Amino acid sequence: MLTRRQKQILDYIKRCVKKGGCFPIQKEIGKHFGLVKSTINQHMATLIEKGYLQKSKNYTRNINICESKSMIKIPLLGVIAAGQPIEAIQDTEIIAVPKNKIPSSAEVYALRVIGNSMVDENINNGDIILVKHQTTAENGQKVVALVDNHEATLKKFYKERGYIRLQPANRNMEPIILRNGRDIAIQGVVLDVIRDTNFMQSTASQIFNSTTEIKQQNKNSKTYYEKSRFKLYLANCLDILSELPENSIDMVFADPPYNLSNGGITVHAGRMVSVNKGEWDKSNGFKNDYDFHYKWLKACRRILKPHGTLWVSGTYHSIYQCGHALQALGYHILNDIAWFKPNASPNLSCRYFTASHETLIWARKEKKAKHIFNYNAMKNGNWSEDNLKKPGLQMRSVWSLGTPRPIEKKFGKHPTQKPENLLKRLVLASTNKGNLIVDPFTGSSTTGIIAYLHGRNFIGIDTESKFLDLSIKRFEELDRNLKNKYLTK
Ligand SMILES: C[S@@+](CC[C@H](N)C(=O)[O-])C[C@H]1O[C@@H](n2cnc3c(N)ncnc32)[C@H](O)[C@@H]1O
Repeated sequence: MLTRRQKQILDYIKRCVKKGGCFPIQKEIGKHFGLVKSTINQHMATLIEKGYLQKSKNYTRNINICESKSMIKIPLLGVIAAGQPIEAIQDTEIIAVPKNKIPSSAEVYALRVIGNSMVDENINNGDIILVKHQTTAENGQKVVALVDNHEATLKKFYKERGYIRLQPANRNMEPIILRNGRDIAIQGVVLDVIRDTNFMQSTASQIFNSTTEIKQQNKNSKTYYEKSRFKLYLANCLDILSELPENSIDMVFADPPYNLSNGGITVHAGRMVSVNKGEWDKSNGFKNDYDFHYKWLKACRRILKPHGTLWVSGTYHSIYQCGHALQALGYHILNDIAWFKPNASPNLSCRYFTASHETLIWARKEKKAKHIFNYNAMKNGNWSEDNLKKPGLQMRSVWSLGTPRPIEKKFGKHPTQKPENLLKRLVLASTNKGNLIVDPFTGSSTTGIIAYLHGRNFIGIDTESKFLDLSIKRFEELDRNLKNKYLTK
């Protein structure tokens, strides 16, 4: 199975060979597609790995196109969880794999792996495994097992005294122990893995590119700014969310209006200031505010991938409404995080406690899905900015992080800008490189800045052009810095 770009490159090579009989060198291919040599080398390596090209000693330029007869078609039956078992999914499509990977007379099928529990065996999220159908297994073999007749999982098989152990190949994960009474059926043993490093990246970038057409389909929506891996829309988020493809987004971070701009006052930098943040933050009454939260949360659930997660941030003015709507819509709440702000503004009235935290709810789209949680990075990463996080201990659900530093506001302020340290934590916890993140209330695009910095794709939406202009300034500075960094390396 090829990505769009891989197929274009293969077709181009075939055309060149057909026309002139000569295999184009990387430089020629790069020039044709406007890609650098290293990217072309990567695509060629993948085409070789997938069996569409092969290295040949006899051939003038050392690479050969594989005849289609050296490929064999097998069914790709769906996805398999390399984590907690998921409901067995049967969703057949046909893929071509190199013949030499399949033993003759074996019944073989393919599954795409989701999750990280086999990483120590070099089976990664997005890879395709080739599975030989059989109903028995020997200790230590990697098996596809059907547990309790409906949940499929990929694990190493061990028959112990009185029980069966399904062992993940990831030292941070616990085995599944099946004692008397629990049903397990071996569905096959793993023969080989087809590395598909481009899968997550390409899926994300295909979706990312497909959103370009949104502006043509919907005249209310407008692409405001578009660069590789970073796109902004000036629109009501409900319009854009409804146009994004279903099951296409890995993570949503949303910091919706708090609906608290009701004429109150607070203290900022020692001065009394209004809490009014703008028209967008005014309440339209309890019912209308709730209906709006329900609608955008529903739209996000449609676009999230089955394993995708959503973060929503807010104070008591909005977060309980969002929490109610999340549950009404069938999301499964994973955590609520208390973001403690050690430098919060004092309370002027002296009649109640000083508000010094926000709540973030983290939810997955479905209870059964295996969401991404980069446990190790959270436990062992460098989180020295947070004096509640002890090095090497599990990360807890109370985070002590200051409000944005002056340098984060050097291009101007958004009235409710989030600190980069907060977004860094969410993005690194719940996504992987190449994933696609959407922020429906992007403001100054703190989410986008962190997503881009860490190799994720980003789509941000906001109704106010002044906030998108601020986002662009932040993005362009980051982009310049990243390019300079690589150029000077
Ligand atoms: C709480 S702020 C987000 C701030 C952002 N997290 C940051 O770090 O800059 C909410 C943003 O949502 C925008 N907004 C309000 N209603 C919207 C809607 N219906 N669709 C899209 N954006 C909206 C506002 O203009 C505002 O910038």
